[in-house]
Amino acid sequence: MNSLIDKYNIPGPRYTSYPTVPYWDESSFSPELWKQSVIRTFKESNAEEGISIYIHLPFCEALCTFCACHKRITKQHSVEIPYLESVLKEWQLYLNLFNEKPKLKELHLGGGTPTFFSPQNLKTLLEGIFETVDISEDQEFSFEGHPNNTTREHLQTLYDLGFRRVSFGVQDYDLKVQKAINRIQPFENVQRVTEWAREIGYRGISHDLVFGLPHQSWEAMEHTIRKTMQLKPDRLAFYSYAHVPWVKGVGQRGFDENDLPSGEEKRRLYEDGKKLLEELGYIEVGMDHFSLEHDDLYQSLIHKKLHRNFMGYTSSKTQLMVGLGMSAISDSWYAFAQNVKTVEEYQKIVEEGQIPVVKGHILNDEDLTVRRHILNLMCQLETTFDINNSFPELENAFDMLKEMEKDELVEMNGHHIQITEKGRAFTRNVAMVFDLRMMRNKPETRIFSMTI
Ligand SMILES: C[S@@+](CC[C@H](N)C(=O)[O-])C[C@H]1O[C@@H](n2cnc3c(N)ncnc32)[C@H](O)[C@@H]1O
Ligand code: SF4
Repeated sequence: MNSLIDKYNIPGPRYTSYPTVPYWDESSFSPELWKQSVIRTFKESNAEEGISIYIHLPFCEALCTFCACHKRITKQHSVEIPYLESVLKEWQLYLNLFNEKPKLKELHLGGGTPTFFSPQNLKTLLEGIFETVDISEDQEFSFEGHPNNTTREHLQTLYDLGFRRVSFGVQDYDLKVQKAINRIQPFENVQRVTEWAREIGYRGISHDLVFGLPHQSWEAMEHTIRKTMQLKPDRLAFYSYAHVPWVKGVGQRGFDENDLPSGEEKRRLYEDGKKLLEELGYIEVGMDHFSLEHDDLYQSLIHKKLHRNFMGYTSSKTQLMVGLGMSAISDSWYAFAQNVKTVEEYQKIVEEGQIPVVKGHILNDEDLTVRRHILNLMCQLETTFDINNSFPELENAFDMLKEMEKDELVEMNGHHIQITEKGRAFTRNVAMVFDLRMMRNKPETRIFSMTI
């Protein structure tokens, strides 16, 4: 197993999009083309499947030093209202493009820390959006809650507005790990918010755990999983720690590289963690996620409806996902766009009446084909490709897959590829075989975290 890690533990994307953000071709993109793409997709898909909205709420009161999200640290709650006003203005700029009332299918509040905002301010924001849309009957609304500051009122207010899913950031219960990542968070805090959510009626309660954190031993991981089992969340994210200190604005510090588990130790945390979670009744769904059998995530897996986008895995798919807020990414199926990455720039551009996208990518036919394979692999762990109707580089892919077959990571039957149980931890590596944009443009510096 060690030699497999030596061979495959290389920097690689997590594929919440294809092409991945560093490979977007900005020369093919302009805010005007982005608007046209939104108009087209909205017309084609709103009546049938509706749209999704992602709202990025970037503020956090304290910096967790492992965090790779786009956030702004502040204790000043006076930032809330101006920010939310900008989000509503940005939404109005999108509404101006639509020829009919949007049907809202999915809504996710991410961050940063959505529960940094007061329940009343969140309510004002959401009501501002809801009065402009028809809400789909099978709407899926979810938010990320920080266990240290989520109140019962947050949970109740959002439940009353139609939210049924919440994910809480847990990471690890070991005090030494918590100190290293500057996130002291006792079990009682997570227990309290989880029990409230259940009492109120949430059905998709999720906890985020991370393996590979500084000082994290198997004993710490096992302790964390067993504590988590006392609360039995419906689903779990079991993320591999992404160490990306070179990314501007991320600020990963407060521990040394030597404090991190080695590649082999990290893989053991994943393997043993997965084994324990499975013994405890969880089923692995796609990459990084586990769910109990009754949960929608598992149900969408078996009904082949699992989808992956910038929000991670979702149980439904809309072609148009509008991302609002600083750094938010939008997806119109034929194009991606990302908003500017500072709060000040974001608010300024929105005030000027412009959609604040700063970069993006228009997908060509080849991108659409490659994305299909990568989505199939990430969501269903299998795909089928027709080498005769593809592009020349896929022949190389075939050779690389043969090598992976020898290592028992995939099984191949003609042009059908299935990732094996042993290969699951290497899903990102298998997906990378199809990543033509990366293949043609090998990065010279580190831009992705390690795959294991
Ligand atoms: C925006 S936070 C969740 C909400 C809230 N801010 C909190 O921390 O509880 C999203 C999740 O991303 C995960 N995450 C953040 N940085 C990460 C990293 N470097 N590697 C892996 N997962 C990470 C954590 O599990 C975290 O709970
Ligand atoms: S983990 Fe959550 S609370 Fe901590 S800095 Fe990141 S987004 Fe903020």
